Amino acid sequence: MRNLKSQLKKLFFRKKFYLKTYKPLKKTVPEKTIQLTSAWKGLELIIEDILNQFNIDKGNCIEFGVEYGFSAVVFSNYFKKVTGVDTFIGDKHSAHKGDHYDQTKKALNEFKNIELFKSDYRDWIQKDTNQYDFAHVDIVHDYKETYECGLWAVRHSKCCIFHDTESFPEVRRAVFDIAKNTGKEVYNYPYHNGLGIIV
Ligand SMILES: C[S@@+](CC[C@H](N)C(=O)[O-])C[C@H]1O[C@@H](n2cnc3c(N)ncnc32)[C@H](O)[C@@H]1O
Repeated sequence: MRNLKSQLKKLFFRKKFYLKTYKPLKKTVPEKTIQLTSAWKGLELIIEDILNQFNIDKGNCIEFGVEYGFSAVVFSNYFKKVTGVDTFIGDKHSAHKGDHYDQTKKALNEFKNIELFKSDYRDWIQKDTNQYDFAHVDIVHDYKETYECGLWAVRHSKCCIFHDTESFPEVRRAVFDIAKNTGKEVYNYPYHNGLGIIV
């Protein structure tokens, strides 16, 4: 019953918060990845395509929601510098798993262009005034947090992507609203749990 309800919500949200489908022209396997189980797997194939289609510079990238580093390593293939921000304690959707900052830092040690910061996004966005070429939002999948963090990320980057637009209707709604309220273009890649793209 609960599953049926959540499926119906997804269908309703897909219709109500319609996002134009992103169509990759070319899929590329990045040179460097790490062997981990991650709901992000599969999306690494379209990151270069997104950067090319929207003509994004490859200077700096910021990621909110690093966890064990799968997506951060994917970005490290393309950007000079990747800044990763996470509380490194998990959340109600990705599981509360205790402090794993040291574990992630050690696992990503060989990727010298990734810098990790143990911080709540709320504290981070108060103090960071930089502009980034690219941003990724993959934190707790509630509307309020995704909207707040995502709005900051969209305002501080040329292109911002959001994971879980298909698996979490509230992420899709937040992406829809951010695009509407900033007047930016928005796309959705409906595979691997969904990737919203705001440019
Ligand atoms: C789905 S995981 C990220 C997965 C990762 N992008 C990957 O490639 O596998 C979500 C992460 O967001 C972090 N997170 C949740 N709420 C946060 C917040 N308020 N500020 C910073 N990080 C947060 C969690 O600690 C968790 O590691």
